[in-house]
Amino acid sequence: MNNETMLVSSKEVLSKAQKGRYAVGAFNVNDLEMMQAIVAAAMKLRSPVILQTTEGAIEYAGLKYLAGMIKTAAHESKIPIVLHLDHGKSLNTIKQCIREGYTSVMIDASQYEFRKNVAVTKKVVALCHKKGVSVEAELGTIGGAEDKVEARRIILTDPAYAKQFVEKTCVDSLAVAIGTSHGAYKFKGSGRLDIKRLKQIRSKVKIPLVLHGASGVPKDIVKKAVKYGAKLQDVSGVPDSQIQQAIKNGICKINTDTDLRLSFTAAEREFLAKNPGEFDPRKILNPAKQLVQQTVERRIMLFGSAGKG
Ligand code: G3H
Ligand code: 13P
Ligand code: ZN
Repeated sequence: MNNETMLVSSKEVLSKAQKGRYAVGAFNVNDLEMMQAIVAAAMKLRSPVILQTTEGAIEYAGLKYLAGMIKTAAHESKIPIVLHLDHGKSLNTIKQCIREGYTSVMIDASQYEFRKNVAVTKKVVALCHKKGVSVEAELGTIGGAEDKVEARRIILTDPAYAKQFVEKTCVDSLAVAIGTSHGAYKFKGSGRLDIKRLKQIRSKVKIPLVLHGASGVPKDIVKKAVKYGAKLQDVSGVPDSQIQQAIKNGICKINTDTDLRLSFTAAEREFLAKNPGEFDPRKILNPAKQLVQQTVERRIMLFGSAGKG
């Protein structure tokens, strides 16, 4: 625990999760409303939580604003909160995040071949471990497109390379590609995670494993969004049963962004359709916050982290 900010490192929360056989939710934050909704859910369920910002979020809201409000949340809430950089691509951003008090970063050098990924990750580990900051890296590639996380084809993680990668880099956690992809259009084909591969990775790698692209894309939320005008065709997410299988087999951190985006905008659409005369942003944003909170509560219950904070 950093006494000044009350933030904790992801190494601390994830090693407890690994021992306790549950997963900690990592939720993407771009603004005040999303952050408040996530923290309210975690506080209500007394769950540890990872608040993560991408380089896109930093570009949108500003690093100091994001770090400032998340540190305030950690100070005010009585739960363990990690401030994490999601999909860090540039060393410069990582250095700035460390300066602003992030307790955890992801270096995503997964676009490079193995040796270069190792070299870049090692450099980040050296920098971060000196400051007590935890490091997540990615091996294999998780597909899908959002904003700054560009589209790539999925390359599943090779278990033997995963072992070598962890030994060479000394990372604290490893994001694995086992079939998920970012966004609301997953599993063009199987509809399942490669649990056999996850088991093989787990038998070779002892550090906490991370699942990206894990949103469930809940049917009720999509239905609401579509009812109020969203064009969402053929969307699909990771079924809850697959998430449970993943946790059973070593996944300790689960990233969720898309479900929050869908929830936020579904509630916005509904409110504006029903209240066309309303123009007070606070009244418009409140239902969005409430639906995001409900979605995060559902995820926390699914991950088994309720009561662990
Ligand atoms: O994988 C991370 C995010 O879901 C993509 O976020 O649009 O902020 O880059 P971004
Ligand atoms: P989703 O797009 O499935 O929510 O995944 C988010 C993610 O992996 C952020 O790093
Ligand atoms: Zn991701």
